[in-house]
Amino acid sequence: MANVTVIGAQWGDEGKGKLVDWLSNRADVVVRFQGGHNAGHTLVVGDQVYKLSLLPSGVVQGKLSVIGNGVVVDPWHLVEEIAKLGSQGVTITPDLLVLADNACLILPLHRDLDQAREAAATNKIGTTGRGIGPAYEDKVGRRAIRVADLADREALEAKIDRLLAHHTPLRRGLGLADVDAAGLLAELEAMAPRILPFARPAWLLLDEIVKSGKRVLFEGAQGALLDVDHGTYPYVTSSNTVAGQAAAGSGLGPKGVGYVLGIVKAYTTRVGGGPFPTELFDAVGEHLGTVGKEFGTVTGRSRRCGWFDAALVRQSVALNGISGIALTKLDVLDGLPRLKICVGYRADGQDFSYLPAGLKAQAALTPVYEEMDGWSETTQGARSFRDLPANAVKYVRRIEELIGAPVALLSTSPQRDDTILVRDPFQD
Ligand code: GDP
Ligand code: IMO
Ligand code: MG
Repeated sequence: MANVTVIGAQWGDEGKGKLVDWLSNRADVVVRFQGGHNAGHTLVVGDQVYKLSLLPSGVVQGKLSVIGNGVVVDPWHLVEEIAKLGSQGVTITPDLLVLADNACLILPLHRDLDQAREAAATNKIGTTGRGIGPAYEDKVGRRAIRVADLADREALEAKIDRLLAHHTPLRRGLGLADVDAAGLLAELEAMAPRILPFARPAWLLLDEIVKSGKRVLFEGAQGALLDVDHGTYPYVTSSNTVAGQAAAGSGLGPKGVGYVLGIVKAYTTRVGGGPFPTELFDAVGEHLGTVGKEFGTVTGRSRRCGWFDAALVRQSVALNGISGIALTKLDVLDGLPRLKICVGYRADGQDFSYLPAGLKAQAALTPVYEEMDGWSETTQGARSFRDLPANAVKYVRRIEELIGAPVALLSTSPQRDDTILVRDPFQD
């Protein structure tokens, strides 16, 4: 039986949360494998709106949910998110949520550093300010505090000293006050009994789950173009967001990744700084932002909007090994008389079928567009392909051709049930 790995195929906010929630009743466990609470995944079920940043979207349907080792975990945020969901009627216990005991923690000092650097920078990345980058730096620098350390006071004390030996000079350079080691230790000790009940070797649990023939649904955060290797560096997040990371970030081997479902928005958005060849600054851009309600879930910032970029998604299909896509937010294009699709780029007299890696080349790109007629009918809430206007079907088919991957699912509104299943990723 196949597992399914859901990843964002653009710059994030493609609708991963909605699709993971919808697919989770076909799975036995839902697993986050990278990123942290920089993610913002919105689920709409009737008149209830759930906003998840750290918890896997499967928790809302009561599925066993795992926060894998590849995630950086802010324990204060985790406790808060659990409480918030509790107030919406979703009770999260250690039977429902498992936190990898080898995941690294995000501490207040990571958030301080993230925000102080952004405030001081001239070319801002536009981070979410939640300490993601600095936490991954400490993980790779082998000085991070991990979930399991919370159970070992002695280790914790030594690790705090080691961590502060690195952070104190950095903080002083940025004009930040020193961190009080004893205070941090006390805070972590107070947090330990609230976090440790969820802590387990997640890799072992997943191994057992897979061996018993059960199905895993991986939930990616961010998008392929925000990947620290493959994205528009340095305007990226600090983790690998591509499907291959599902294996390393969970402890399940690469065979466990299974069917890769790329979530693709029917146009393009990006929040934060960095190149965006098809960005629009006109009435169409305004339409996409307003009708698509393109405001960041985490920071409330307006998302930048533009035409669908098939060259970008074709690159993403290759980087992720995408088996099929879920196309979302087609309804946002309703009523636009003409539509453009970017099929490649031109820069300094040269054609590019992909996004070149150099910053200068990226900034110089002009999109090459193909145009087609739009549709005036509404696709909002359509539950079958037959309900779609002919031009909408044409648009979807052209996207499939250009990106080289088939549509497996189509989403036509924020609501859970407004989802068209073309082929079941778990059966493919
Ligand atoms: P994620 O980060 O990939 O999970 O996506 P977000 O939740 O940040 O952003 C997607 C937004 O679009 C959310 O507000 C969803 O409720 C909404 N959404 C998802 N699918 C559709 C759709 O097909 N049509 C419309 N109009 N909205 C959608
Ligand atoms: P979901 O999972 C969109 C962007 C930030 C910034 C860059 C680095 O909801 O799709 P970071 O705080 O990660 O160091 O910021 O990455 N970013 C996202 N953009 N969706 C997200 O997550 C994002 N998570 C981070 O805006 O440009
Ligand atoms: Mg989001």
